[in-house]
Amino acid sequence: MERIGFMKVLVILCLICGTGRARAAVHRVNHKAVYNHTLATILVEYASAVYMSDLTQLFTWTCARCDGLTKGFDVIELIVDVQNCLQAYVGVSTNLNAVVIAFRGTQERSIQNWIEDLYWKQFEMSYPGMPDAMVHHGFYTAYHNTTIRPGILSAIETSKALYGDIKIIVTGHSMGGAMAALCALDLVINLNKKDVQVMTFGQPRVGNAVFASYYKQALPNTIRVVNDHDVVPHLPPYYSIFPHKTYQHFPREVWLYNIGVGSLVYPVEKVCDGSGEDPSCSRSVVGNSISDHLVYYGVELGCDIAMSCGIVMDPHVKKLGTMDERGNLVLLKNPAISVLKLNATDDATRSSI
Ligand SMILES: *[C@@H]1O[C@H](CO)[C@@H](O)[C@H](O)[C@H]1NC(C)=O
Ligand SMILES: *[C@@H]1O[C@H](CO)[C@@H](O)[C@H](O)[C@H]1NC(C)=O
Ligand SMILES: *[C@@H]1O[C@H](CO)[C@@H](O)[C@H](O)[C@H]1NC(C)=O
Repeated sequence: MERIGFMKVLVILCLICGTGRARAAVHRVNHKAVYNHTLATILVEYASAVYMSDLTQLFTWTCARCDGLTKGFDVIELIVDVQNCLQAYVGVSTNLNAVVIAFRGTQERSIQNWIEDLYWKQFEMSYPGMPDAMVHHGFYTAYHNTTIRPGILSAIETSKALYGDIKIIVTGHSMGGAMAALCALDLVINLNKKDVQVMTFGQPRVGNAVFASYYKQALPNTIRVVNDHDVVPHLPPYYSIFPHKTYQHFPREVWLYNIGVGSLVYPVEKVCDGSGEDPSCSRSVVGNSISDHLVYYGVELGCDIAMSCGIVMDPHVKKLGTMDERGNLVLLKNPAISVLKLNATDDATRSSI
């Protein structure tokens, strides 16, 4: 009996999710995004670490979330836009042989307020150089109109000088995922970077259908992971009756959910279709969970301390970086000595950086 039940679950699982079919389809067109579970579990740790508020620990990659699968990461630059409450870093993972860029999600107010704003307040603007493409004004300016973009671009040049022209992987969670997408697009379109890959977690919609279609062409190697009933990927809302007026996701979604009967529960990772709005993926359920938004692959995504826009500046931080008149901070590794590993407990090393 037990065995038959088990087989039934497997059959149902295959019928409902069809992951096998979807994966096969993805593999046939090999320049498209291929979902790699191992890579996802690594990148989610990068997206989690960028939330850490102790800047010295983050810069020296000694924070509590800087261990595990990301151990040995070489941070090139940490950018903290205090004015706009944004945080991002650029570094090199020798394991992945890639530059990794990670963006923090929103810390400005309570997540509930932010989600409500995303539902009701949809200020859009034209995406420059793409006729009819509209994007969310808040996400666009967070990347393009703050200290974040110049910081990222200079760090990419530094990384190139130190490690050569290696692949670039851009990641982020929540609003950080939206910024990651806009950053990757910027790198491909304006900086002519060739090998750019994107993986985001719990990302909101960024723009309209025209934007999604431009994005898809520029960045075929993009995976948007959505966890179960996470509310944020459902926002700003999608109205299928106004296909040209509505916000629309770009592909390719990977939807994580559980299927189960009684005590037998199986996690499923469904690779969705190339439309960006696969009706059989997360759109088949109601997005009503904040807790599903805050944990992906068992990794916590959110600030480590309960504090609005929490940034911990210890006296060493000023030695590590430069601060502008508005209090925004850039911690930049000096290319000349960057091959030396920072010693987190050694003041002499720090002050020479
Ligand atoms: C998936 O990613 C991991 C980590 O980058 C890599 O080692 C592995 O070869 C990849 N698997 C495939 C099938 O590409
Ligand atoms: C960027 O910031 C400047 C100055 O704060 C402002 O005048 C401009 O309108 C902003 N651009 C966008 C696209 O919001
Ligand atoms: C860091 O510096 C301390 C004190 O100078 C030293 O004891 C320790 O071994 C160093 N750690 C590394 C990893 O070099």
